[in-house]
Amino acid sequence: MLSLKELYETCSSCRKCPLGDTRNNMVFGEGNIRGKLVFIGEAPGYDEDMSGRPFVGKAGQLLEKGLSALDLKRDRDYYICNILKCRPPQNRTPLEEEAKACLPYLRNQIIIMKPKIIVALGATSLKYIFGEEFRITRDRGKWIERNGFLMTATFHPSAVLRDESKKKPFWEDLKEINKRYREIK
Ligand code: URA
Repeated sequence: MLSLKELYETCSSCRKCPLGDTRNNMVFGEGNIRGKLVFIGEAPGYDEDMSGRPFVGKAGQLLEKGLSALDLKRDRDYYICNILKCRPPQNRTPLEEEAKACLPYLRNQIIIMKPKIIVALGATSLKYIFGEEFRITRDRGKWIERNGFLMTATFHPSAVLRDESKKKPFWEDLKEINKRYREIK
């Protein structure tokens, strides 16, 4: 097990998959590592790759708007990261082998941070965090307890940007996440 600093350095020079050659910046994650609430997205996009920061593009701004309305702040209440730490070309869905190469880093981060609540954002995150048998439209908003973590999933904010009808359930999910977070705090 590496410390967060060691892990950050390892990820910065990682070449375990070809995305290491095409990235501009590795996107490690950001927020309060002691916040007890962790959001996990899919992979960095253009803005994230350019800045080295997660969820700073349009999708990130939508998520941030919802969370701020609930007085949930990145630097105080939660940490946010992704299944992959490097951007796939044209933002395509992560390949199985990319996820397999990258997931041990995420597991190491989670073990260090010991969050109480883990939120998967979107289908890819749900698949790798919960398991293959889960489906985002069917299972979002449900809560399970596993390995001492309370876990749930909601739509990826970029899916919400594409499809208006996802806005309301997304908002309902964020409100429930906030409620549970206040309870455990
Ligand atoms: N989408 C993601 O899944 N993660 C990001 O960091 C940005 C967009």
